[in-house]
Amino acid sequence: MSPTIELRPTPNPLSDAERTARMQSLGFGQTFTEHMVVIPYEEGLGWGQAVLQPYGPLSLDPATSVLHYGQAIFEGFKAYRQPDGGIKTFRAERNAERFIASAKRLAMAELPVELFMAAADALIRQDAAWVPSKAGESLYLRPFMIGTDAQLGVRPSRKYLFVLIASPSGNYFPSGVKPVTVWISEEYVRAAPGGTGAAKFAGNYAASLLAQANARAEGCDQVVWIDAVHRKYIEEMGGMNIMFAYEENGRPVVVTPELTGTLLPGVTRESLLQLAKDFGWGAEERKITVEDWDHDIRSGRMTEAFACGTAAVITPIGRVKSRHGEFAVHHGETGPVASKLRKALLDIQHGHAADPHGWMRAVV
Ligand code: COI
Repeated sequence: MSPTIELRPTPNPLSDAERTARMQSLGFGQTFTEHMVVIPYEEGLGWGQAVLQPYGPLSLDPATSVLHYGQAIFEGFKAYRQPDGGIKTFRAERNAERFIASAKRLAMAELPVELFMAAADALIRQDAAWVPSKAGESLYLRPFMIGTDAQLGVRPSRKYLFVLIASPSGNYFPSGVKPVTVWISEEYVRAAPGGTGAAKFAGNYAASLLAQANARAEGCDQVVWIDAVHRKYIEEMGGMNIMFAYEENGRPVVVTPELTGTLLPGVTRESLLQLAKDFGWGAEERKITVEDWDHDIRSGRMTEAFACGTAAVITPIGRVKSRHGEFAVHHGETGPVASKLRKALLDIQHGHAADPHGWMRAVV
């Protein structure tokens, strides 16, 4: 039986006209729906009653542990309006499973997959009118969990708060799918072996911001991370996984850094590898160095590079810069491999193509 979510919706819903006004020209994560789901956890008692309530501020004691020691994890997945007016989510169970993996790494309480899914279904049904319908738009769901013990000893919190909010969203990058210029960071690392790189841990993102600012100061849009030990293997771009397209024996081969424990196991990454195989292309998870990137572009074996993630789907990389020089990728333009993968994924998500892997789940 699916867990019950107590519904306490707002007594003052927005009018259709007000909601429509707020949904004009959507960016990413700027506008929020009228509700959220909260579920408290307490050691010894387990997960308490899940409540859907009006979206609004959380009240926290100043000694709340997350504010001091940072036990905070999150997820991101999307719900898409379908051609028949229904609403489906894309692979949300994968996010629920990763949320558990992240909780384990941060010594936090584990939210059962069924409760994660029930919370998502309740919020999407309640705020169904907030799911946009234009191409490239969706309702971005943001589940997160924080340690809420109010005490200053350094130890895992004994209380947690799970919260799910939702944001009607358009393009992640204001420039849309225009290729980005990346800066290879040699000064900072995102993740080290044994660290938190494979978890969707808030601190990973906090620790990335200075490198991202550095990339900007170098005239680049995004930072590319290399591994902490050998300082040569490519890991991720900003908060996204990274992929390369090779041309071998007349067919594309998509290559992405293998999951070594320092990379986030992305749901979009996993889905694009599957789509590449569906097309009859090669799909490889292996190590790739910065030197390979430069060399394989110059030799013509590598044709494209792009980043992938839930928020931006696919973002082509047009130019690569580092302290040692720079080079263009696919003449600075979006290539056919990135375009085809992006379209195939979005077509499945928006219900314009068959869903052979059962990735979509009907909610409304
Ligand atoms: C994604 O690519 O979906 C991300 O994880 C970025 C997100 C933190 C906005």
